[in-house]
Amino acid sequence: MCGIVGYMGNQDATPVIMNGLKMLEYRGYDSAGICTMDDGTAEIRRSSGKLINLERLIKDKPLSGTIGIGHTRWATHGKASVTNAHPHKSGSVVVVHNGIIENYLALKDELIDRGHAFISETDSEVISHLIDEKYELTGSFEKAVQLALKELHGAYALCILNQKDEKTLIAAKSGSPMVVGIRGDEYFIASDMPAIISNTREMVIMEDGEMAVFREGRVTFFTITGEEIAKASRHVDWSPLKAEKNGYPNFMLKEIHEQPQSIKNVIAGRLLDEKGDVFLEGLNLNDCELNSFEKLCLVACGTSWHAALVGKYLIEEQCRIPVDVEIASEFRYRDPLISGKTLVIPISQSGETADTLAALREARGKNAHIVSICNVVDSSIARESDGVIYTHAGLEIGVASTKAFTTQLVALYLLAIRLGRANGTISQEKGQEMIVELSGLPAHVKKTLELDPQIEEIACEYLTSWDAIYLGRGISYPIALEGALKLKEISYIHADGYPAGEMKHGPIALIDREMPVFILAPNDRHLIKVRSNMEEVITRGGKVIAFCSEGDQETGRRAEFTLKIPWAGEILSAVLFAVALQLLAYNFAILKGKDVDQPRNLAKSVTVE
Ligand code: M6R
Repeated sequence: MCGIVGYMGNQDATPVIMNGLKMLEYRGYDSAGICTMDDGTAEIRRSSGKLINLERLIKDKPLSGTIGIGHTRWATHGKASVTNAHPHKSGSVVVVHNGIIENYLALKDELIDRGHAFISETDSEVISHLIDEKYELTGSFEKAVQLALKELHGAYALCILNQKDEKTLIAAKSGSPMVVGIRGDEYFIASDMPAIISNTREMVIMEDGEMAVFREGRVTFFTITGEEIAKASRHVDWSPLKAEKNGYPNFMLKEIHEQPQSIKNVIAGRLLDEKGDVFLEGLNLNDCELNSFEKLCLVACGTSWHAALVGKYLIEEQCRIPVDVEIASEFRYRDPLISGKTLVIPISQSGETADTLAALREARGKNAHIVSICNVVDSSIARESDGVIYTHAGLEIGVASTKAFTTQLVALYLLAIRLGRANGTISQEKGQEMIVELSGLPAHVKKTLELDPQIEEIACEYLTSWDAIYLGRGISYPIALEGALKLKEISYIHADGYPAGEMKHGPIALIDREMPVFILAPNDRHLIKVRSNMEEVITRGGKVIAFCSEGDQETGRRAEFTLKIPWAGEILSAVLFAVALQLLAYNFAILKGKDVDQPRNLAKSVTVE
């Protein structure tokens, strides 16, 4: 998603901004641009595609100046093109924007009526026109920004320059993330801390409705209604992780193979073997407080939502607490039934997903207690929660979530043990058994990864398929959904996941000789039923690929292919099936020649709704 970097100081702004933009690349983008100001002249360079194109352009036409703003754009309104790339300049004002201006069409019509000419198809361009117009009226840059912001509906993080106030940079935020880094009289502004943390660890987190005015070595914070506010910086002591492929052909394969280690990381220091319990350092709730909740509400998007669904099966069964699972983009607008007696658990790899963050705020407004499950330390969702369970998966660059998903599952497993121990539904002995099973999981994941050659064979066999169905029951149902999502997003093969028992209520009509059906049949209490569902598919000429457990001689007998997955217990085997399905999607995509790390149209961190 769009990324912003701004700089004001005494160094050449261009390398600072370009380095920052590189650190934001993982968020996903399709064009980029930069503007620096020198002697009252704003010079802009923009290009479509990757940052390397912008770098080449800057090499041909160098920039100068110690103040500047940069942007990576993920197209929403208007295709990915140089014209639609940011920064946008109108009159003397130059703007980069992350977010969506929902009333831009009405604003654009009004501006056109007042004589403004638009160049791009973006929603963002109205901002530069509005500010320029207000500046011409008031002669004050701050005032112009404040007046313009009043007219905007939607989400924004903005960095703004003005040729007529050449020593000033203004940043403002509402709904999209923005941080300010301070090093003496130098200022670094960015959508995300990793973009600027190599320059400074003193950070000010901007809140919605705030703006920052950087002028001649000073920063002053205001509300967007113009009242000056005091904001303290905080020292950030974590280090940004380096994005390296370590000999793998792409990040996705590296991240799939990192799972034995990332699972060790999420467990590390948290198991209390003797007590059959776990210690979750960021939970911040004692037994009594944990037992005071009437229900849990897990809220997330995409793969993280699939993790939440697994969480429902797991926690309701083990801890006998009602668990609602909500898609964040729905939850935020439907006045959900939650209260101070609800424990709301947003789940997010990035911690910046706009819908999940908005859902958190909706829950906060209803007095819910919030404990998030996040991977990115200090992310917006983590910061705004009452407690956090970090998944410690490390940096995930591949757009398709892999190690982030399996560590979320493990974090939920840890939470289930804690909840069950607190309310007595999990005995000490049972807790000890669960911990033993969990401790063996990394080794089982490693063994599952060794199935790759067989999985590649399956992908080869069904490579020409346009559609696929994934079936599972119980905890394997959300794993089927996740398998289907993985296949869709990186290979562009249409795939759907269903609860196996639902097939006969409609989807079975899709079965024909062309349709591969991936059946998840772990050796759990649903196995007999799943075998019957498999027969229903075979009877109708469908091609069945059975994913079953090691030692199962029966299930695969009538399947075209069988993959035997290690057994890690009823719950944790789901993690292994997820890993096998990641490899399946990966092999399909690679055999089809797709870019698995940056699939078309997708962004890693979805910071707009
Ligand atoms: O960062 P988050 O976990 O909040 O992201 C949620 C989804 O955008 C994400 O899981 C998405 O579905 C992935 N591309 C799935 O691989």
